[in-house]
Amino acid sequence: MALHIFLLAVGIIQASGMMVQPEQIAKTVYLNDTTFVAYNSSTTKCRIDCADAETMLHKDFRSFQKVWMFNNTEMFSADDKTFIDSNRSLEFQVLNTEDNGAYQCCIRSTDLAYQSFVCYSTLLIVIEEMPEEGLNMTTTTEAPPSPSWNVVIENGDVLNAQPGNNYFLKIFEENATSIHCLVNEVDVKIKTSNSFPPPLYNDLLIESFNLTDHSGLYVCNGTVTIGNETSIETVSFTISQSWNDNKNADLLDAKVVAEALKSAFTVFSFFFISLFILSAVFGGF
Ligand SMILES: *[C@@H]1O[C@H](CO)[C@@H](O)[C@H](O)[C@H]1NC(C)=O
Ligand SMILES: *[C@@H]1O[C@H](CO)[C@@H](O)[C@H](O)[C@H]1NC(C)=O
Ligand SMILES: *[C@@H]1O[C@H](CO)[C@@H](O)[C@H](O)[C@H]1NC(C)=O
Ligand SMILES: *[C@@H]1O[C@H](CO)[C@@H](O)[C@H](O)[C@H]1NC(C)=O
Ligand SMILES: *[C@@H]1O[C@H](CO)[C@@H](O)[C@H](O)[C@H]1NC(C)=O
Ligand SMILES: *[C@@H]1O[C@H](CO)[C@@H](O)[C@H](O)[C@H]1NC(C)=O
Ligand SMILES: *[C@@H]1O[C@H](CO)[C@@H](O)[C@H](O)[C@H]1NC(C)=O
Ligand SMILES: *[C@@H]1O[C@H](CO)[C@@H](O)[C@H](O)[C@H]1NC(C)=O
Ligand SMILES: *[C@@H]1O[C@H](CO)[C@@H](O)[C@H](O)[C@H]1NC(C)=O
Repeated sequence: MALHIFLLAVGIIQASGMMVQPEQIAKTVYLNDTTFVAYNSSTTKCRIDCADAETMLHKDFRSFQKVWMFNNTEMFSADDKTFIDSNRSLEFQVLNTEDNGAYQCCIRSTDLAYQSFVCYSTLLIVIEEMPEEGLNMTTTTEAPPSPSWNVVIENGDVLNAQPGNNYFLKIFEENATSIHCLVNEVDVKIKTSNSFPPPLYNDLLIESFNLTDHSGLYVCNGTVTIGNETSIETVSFTISQSWNDNKNADLLDAKVVAEALKSAFTVFSFFFISLFILSAVFGGF
């Protein structure tokens, strides 16, 4: 009997190193369910965010302690899973029906000792892969979008970028127009002098960062008008793939970004459709 109690005590002590005990949880917030089709390799990976968008925007969120659990017990095999950005998201490299269940991300500020945790629980429903012709994408909900950042870049800075993330950059101190950049001395197609609504920065957009496409030395010219004077200014900086933090960076609300990118695209196609109609009309004469 005594031995049993002893073993039990040891077990609890060992588990508490990794696991959040029920009495340490102040409250559990239930987030929306996520449904995803099973995969072995997929370009769109299933990703579960630690908390709701608003909480993740909290300026101290990055520094919070985050403990992930599955079905209210200790964390599972992490072999085929990746923790992204200091545990703010969990990404599945392989997904199968055994991954079905509730994922809890428990967070707390580490400022004070013995703070209790707030846990966010997301139910993941994995659907067996369907035969090719039965595949109906409308039954899957998209993985949460990649993080997007507003970043102020100064001459000589390095932007630490992570694959898939979006970066809205402000590179000129004043309002600059006709921005044109060379990347590694090559004239590549990048989105400059954009007109996204505030708070998004418009000088340059790196959409879905990709190491081969976007990393390197950027040299950008912009036309700056102060009073009556117009001049061309040049700013150079580097973009590299790195998990380090950026200074002067603000995480953007995913909804705001999605709206902005969507409407920018609509305006863009509208412009071309209008051009097409105009040329059709005038071409007729
Ligand atoms: C949960 O889903 C509802 C309905 O689709 C949506 O309005 C709401 O914003 C979602 N909540 C979160 C935290 O994503
Ligand atoms: C994944 O691989 C396993 C074993 O290789 C196979 O049995 C299974 O059907 C595959 N599943 C998918 C979704 O491709
Ligand atoms: C991320 O979460 C796992 C599982 O809870 C934990 O083992 C790991 O230490 C955490 N890493 C960070 C950087 O918080
Ligand atoms: C986790 O919980 C879900 C839903 O309650 C259940 O279907 C699943 O079998 C559980 N998984 C494990 C490994 O316990
Ligand atoms: C997909 O499912 C929706 C609703 O369940 C249905 O309206 C649609 O026709 C389906 N599409 C295909 C290609 O089966
Ligand atoms: C830049 O442009 C914005 C909007 O067009 C304007 O509100 C702001 O005053 C301008 N800033 C400078 C420094 O000219
Ligand atoms: C910037 O302007 C200078 C001269 O004004 C020009 O030599 C250079 O090629 C321009 N660079 C870019 C990236 O447009
Ligand atoms: C990056 O983009 C290139 C070309 O656009 C593509 O071939 C490559 O697979 C992409 N890399 C990643 C990691 O997505
Ligand atoms: C701008 O130009 C106008 C007309 O050329 C002139 O009257 C005015 O003084 C100029 N202002 C400045 C700030 O140079």
